[in-house]
Amino acid sequence: MKQENARLQVAVVGVGRMGRHHARIYHELEGVDLVAVADADAERRSALAAEFSCRAHATLEELLREHPSLDAVSIATPTTHHLAAAEELLPRGVACLIEKPLAASSADAAAIATLSAEHSTICQVGHTERFNPAVRAVTEMDLRPRFIEVDRVAPMSFRSVDVGVVFDLMIHDLDIVLMLSRSPLKEVHAVGVGVLSDKEDVANARLEFEDGCVANLTVSRLAMKTERKLRVFSEKVYVTLDFARRSGMAISTTENRASIDAVREKLARGEDLSDLDYLALVKMQPLQMEEEEPLRAELQYFLSCVREGRNPAIDAEAGRSAVDAAERVVQSIREHHWEGFEGMRLV
Ligand SMILES: NC(=O)c1ccc[n+]([C@@H]2O[C@H](COP(=O)([O-])OP(=O)(O)OC[C@H]3O[C@@H](n4cnc5c(N)ncnc54)[C@H](O)[C@@H]3O)[C@@H](O)[C@H]2O)c1
Repeated sequence: MKQENARLQVAVVGVGRMGRHHARIYHELEGVDLVAVADADAERRSALAAEFSCRAHATLEELLREHPSLDAVSIATPTTHHLAAAEELLPRGVACLIEKPLAASSADAAAIATLSAEHSTICQVGHTERFNPAVRAVTEMDLRPRFIEVDRVAPMSFRSVDVGVVFDLMIHDLDIVLMLSRSPLKEVHAVGVGVLSDKEDVANARLEFEDGCVANLTVSRLAMKTERKLRVFSEKVYVTLDFARRSGMAISTTENRASIDAVREKLARGEDLSDLDYLALVKMQPLQMEEEEPLRAELQYFLSCVREGRNPAIDAEAGRSAVDAAERVVQSIREHHWEGFEGMRLV
């Protein structure tokens, strides 16, 4: 735990597309000193160090040698390098914010979770979507979901093509679905199609949880439009969210009790209701949400955990659960039987 007013010494390892935003935000935050960035690419690390007035290092070893009192580090190297960085930092007690996915395999993710637990070092996973104001509004509703539907489709960006769309995009939704369902994952059935490589570019997964909740997730990085939507059906409330627009709507049985009772009675009497305007009947409540950059909220939360010595809600165990689920989805895709479509089957 740090003294309330003490400044935090932080650094970023890997300042590519994501890492540069971590560096920008740390540079802007009050009470934080971005002391250095480390990146294997000399041009990139020098440019970032000049932009944010900090030092540049070629390796993590050099960073640790030059800055022995670091409090926290963001790891934003490619996913396959996350474990190697965590192995250097967590045993030294340096808190880590590791970009999503936590690791490229369940075994690596479990190794990171073990390091964090054994050394009692804070480790948060960069599931930024949890800090999307729309998702935060739903989390605060404390739902007991029965059925969750998520769509995340976008045109090909030609980034993160070293992993399939499940580890690239579906991992966001797997984390949210696991967080909302709060029940162990029982079964996974998935199907995927790879078009541009031997990895899946389009995938659909049906997840069933021990408590009976079912989630249906669809992702594509070959779509002609960008859409990121979540629908949650719980016992008393139906919620629909648009991640991209950061907007949402809730329909609760409590708010609509009078209409529901009236319609039930009429249906029971056998009345013809085909002229009834359903949309005019239903009372919808827009979700209240704050305008805040999700990554800024994520880093502020991480640093508040570092200051207070508090375990973050999205810790290495949560990151490991998401990676486990992603691995089960990929496994199910591999096992999927395509009658007469051998050419499209992913192996
Ligand atoms: N939270 C999100 O929404 C989100 C979005 C995109 C990417 N990501 C994640 O962020 C991570 C980085 O992705 P990216 O798109 O920024 O990749 P990137 O390729 O743009 O950047 C990675 C950087 O790491 C550097 N690097 C590679 N190996 C290194 C090493 N051993 N030591 C130091 N530097 C090293 C590279 O030179 C590069 O600058 C990945 O885990 C990815 O999944 C998260």
